[in-house]
Amino acid sequence: MTLTLHVNGRTHALAAPPDAPLLQVLRNDLGLNGPKYGCGLGECGACLVLVDGVAARSCVIPAGGVAQREITTLEGLGTREHPHPVQQAFIDAQAAQCGYCLNGMVVATVALLRRMPRPTDEQVRAALSHNLCRCGTHLEILQAVHHAAELTDPSRS
Ligand code: FES
Repeated sequence: MTLTLHVNGRTHALAAPPDAPLLQVLRNDLGLNGPKYGCGLGECGACLVLVDGVAARSCVIPAGGVAQREITTLEGLGTREHPHPVQQAFIDAQAAQCGYCLNGMVVATVALLRRMPRPTDEQVRAALSHNLCRCGTHLEILQAVHHAAELTDPSRS
């Protein structure tokens, strides 16, 4: 059975069942390891990707359900040489310890800043409240989101 997915600007024809979790297809079939397997239940946010620009939990989405949509993973945001401003902000703020939650935090922040370019502390906390971090880097993550808002502010350029 062939499954067609549009991921990071490319179209892929895959031999994967349409009911396979999107996370599994991204990691196992496309080798995109930015999205992480955490809970597998839609609870932790480690597996976030953008689906048509909206943050979505890829562990609970059947891949066939997003076949006509544009999927963006962490790898599609920026590169090591040219990181996305949100990635750069998280690096600048050193907002990681183990780093396992970072994919979800970055993807959720990209989605947040598209909806809300200058969020307050409360709005950042609400937007990231379902992204779990066990290390306790919440203050650095908050700083990183505000720094990302500065870096992506069109009035700066
Ligand atoms: Fe998908 Fe936890 S692995 S939300």
